[in-house]
Amino acid sequence: MRVAALARERAYAPYSGYKVGAAIRTKRNKIHGGANVENASYGMTVCAERCAAFAAVAAGETKDWDAVAVIVAGDDLASPCGACRQVLYEFSPGMRVILATTTGKRKATTLAELLPDAFGPDRLPRV
Ligand code: THU
Repeated sequence: MRVAALARERAYAPYSGYKVGAAIRTKRNKIHGGANVENASYGMTVCAERCAAFAAVAAGETKDWDAVAVIVAGDDLASPCGACRQVLYEFSPGMRVILATTTGKRKATTLAELLPDAFGPDRLPRV
């Protein structure tokens, strides 16, 4: 959670003002942080969870992610959006999801719970 909280402070969110931090811990005990990055062309925005996921991939870790932590300011938890759930599922469908706020609220869930009956790489023929 510490890495997620630090990443949140570096979020680039001048349009929404809603800063989100995320961190993925892998089973090799590496932690990859991410923050939301917004854009004047709003649709180009990338959420904190995908930023952390892509940081993990860029570091060479494409499987065995144990958990993702997501932290926002205030008292209301944020749960990963549908797009981020799908991206996380690609790499570690069995991962845990830990939601937190800067005021100390916590909730633990799983990706399987957040994205049931998901479409994943195993559904596609390998070429
Ligand atoms: N956002 C995230 O980074 N993660 C979430 O789980 C929800 C939404 C970002 C996207 C956008 O920059 C801002 O929060 C408002 O939607």
